[in-house]
Amino acid sequence: MGNWKMNGRRQEAQSLLSAVVTHAASFSDVDVVVCPPYVYLGLAVERLADCPGIVCGAQDVSAHADGAYTGEVSAAMARDIGCEFAIIGHSERRTLCGETDPVVAEKFARALAADITPVLCVGETAKERDAGRTREVVLRQIDAVYAACGTRAFERAVVAYEPVWAIGTGRAASPDEAQAVHHDIRGAVAQRNPEAAAGLRILYGGSVKAQNARELFACADIDGGLIGGASLVAGDFIGICQAACFKSA
Ligand code: 13P
Repeated sequence: MGNWKMNGRRQEAQSLLSAVVTHAASFSDVDVVVCPPYVYLGLAVERLADCPGIVCGAQDVSAHADGAYTGEVSAAMARDIGCEFAIIGHSERRTLCGETDPVVAEKFARALAADITPVLCVGETAKERDAGRTREVVLRQIDAVYAACGTRAFERAVVAYEPVWAIGTGRAASPDEAQAVHHDIRGAVAQRNPEAAAGLRILYGGSVKAQNARELFACADIDGGLIGGASLVAGDFIGICQAACFKSA
């Protein structure tokens, strides 16, 4: 899953999409989601319409339904133009936009109600990790969604574990570090809903590159990646998609 964040212009968007479409046959068994900035979403949906296995996601949705919320985009609107996924609670939104756990849970619920698969981002800061609080923080972020959406919350959802200290730093979590947290996440979901846990896709995000992707994806509870910087470089993103092929084989 590629999160372009707030990068690029129309031309870069078009050439990235073209490159992914051109190479799609080399990772045809992998589910790929591209998340451009909102203004380029329509363009992306149209470009990918005839490309099986590659769909679009939004980087965020409003916590509100339609109405007087200037500047916001509702989940129903995103669905209306062909979005199938939405990133919810990315750490940049939690930190820069002050999104709290309850707000994130509200957005998660809006996505589900609009027939969009939410991709819930969870992850600890460096300070929290150093204090030995990783598990506590991540499970608190999961619990907030359960509190708002009930025990069926993760039956149709994706979780992305993105340690804040690994995002954009070039310092990815090691496969063992990431696997341990992914295992905890699946365990927490299993306690409430074993079936949802078995089918849950848990992505790892934070400095994933073509070079380290395969090693990370080889872990039992790492089902794929949420890619930031490397999703802006066609060759790197395609390499990461190809690295995921063995997982679906
Ligand atoms: P980087 O891959 O640039 O570290 O970003 C990860 C991320 O935040 C994806 O949502």
